[in-house]
Amino acid sequence: MNDRHLIVLNVNGEDHEALVEPRKTLLDVLRHDLGLTGAHAGCEHGVCGACTVLVDGEPVRACLVFAVQAEAADIRTVESLGRDGELSDLQEAFREHHGLQCGFCTPGFLMLAEGFLAQQPDAGREEIREALSANLCRCTGYQTIVDAVAATAARRLDTERETAP
Ligand code: FES
Ligand code: FES
Repeated sequence: MNDRHLIVLNVNGEDHEALVEPRKTLLDVLRHDLGLTGAHAGCEHGVCGACTVLVDGEPVRACLVFAVQAEAADIRTVESLGRDGELSDLQEAFREHHGLQCGFCTPGFLMLAEGFLAQQPDAGREEIREALSANLCRCTGYQTIVDAVAATAARRLDTERETAP
């Protein structure tokens, strides 16, 4: 019996077809079927957040979602950040503030922060710290990640004020 399903996932603005078993996670389909290896497989049971992607704008642990559940959703992975080989402002802030060391957790933190800042662009440092506590990092001690996200929030607010009519 063939229990695989043909699904279409919209990832980073493009439709992708995949023939998948219903039990296959979104993380595995992104990495193994679509070749998008930016979302990392850490604990694979919802604890570390290394697999975080955006599903309809919400940070989601891709290891806890079946790919078949994500059909019709707007999925964004870390590969969507940056343009034409340039880092995004958030990625640049991680670089400036040393928000990564080994980098294994970084794609998850970037997408967690991207989703959070879209929802709460004027978040203060404590709110940012609380939001980032969802994910684990074994290297940095977290302060530099908070610094990077707080700096991005401040810069985006400044830009918005400067460009306001
Ligand atoms: S790999 Fe998904 S939460 Fe750890
Ligand atoms: S930079 Fe190594 S786990 Fe976060």
